[in-house]
Amino acid sequence: MNIAVFVSGNGTNLQAIIDAVSCGDIRATIAIVVSDNKSAYALTRARKAGIETFVLDPKDFKSKEDYDKEIIKELEKKDIDLVVLAGFMRLVSAVFVKKYENRIMNIHPSLLPSFKGTHAIKDAFDYGAKKTGVTVHFVDDKLDHGPIILQEAVDVNKEDTIHTLEEKIHKIEHRLYPEAIRLFAEQKLKIDGRKTKIVNR
Ligand code: GRF
Repeated sequence: MNIAVFVSGNGTNLQAIIDAVSCGDIRATIAIVVSDNKSAYALTRARKAGIETFVLDPKDFKSKEDYDKEIIKELEKKDIDLVVLAGFMRLVSAVFVKKYENRIMNIHPSLLPSFKGTHAIKDAFDYGAKKTGVTVHFVDDKLDHGPIILQEAVDVNKEDTIHTLEEKIHKIEHRLYPEAIRLFAEQKLKIDGRKTKIVNR
């Protein structure tokens, strides 16, 4: 199974996936790491692991669709089975979702459908939520919306600051995302409408 990981930033989730592949927990190859940001530290992580990178600046394209079509061309060369969005700060277009239908995953740092969007940890903290968490889900054409694969809650205690909460959430992410990818690679995920069934776990 060939995976493409899409990144824009630090890449700690990418690192967790690289580690899970290299220790044999996920039986797959990370064939390419794609980024919209040439300065993303995630690209350094990929290169250190000997993984090919592909950087495309959205500013060089007229439309979101043109941008995504160029990425699709590259993914086709690598025979990609699964697209993993790991801190990729762009919404993929309908063209892209159609091409890789039910084969795109995202990780989001809240218990969806609460706190969608780019500041989910801070939004949950500022809102005074007593519990928040992490969601891994398939991607459809709406923001933070597709069928949920795995979800894990975390308590927000009165001692927590935004920083300790971020740390707790990232720790869960680094365990949950490789687990979801492993289940996909082992063909244990079956989508039925909004539900993702996990078979023979
Ligand atoms: C993570 O919190 C993820 O849930 C969100 O973006 C962040 C990416 O972090 N989608 P990193 O680049 O993997 O360190």
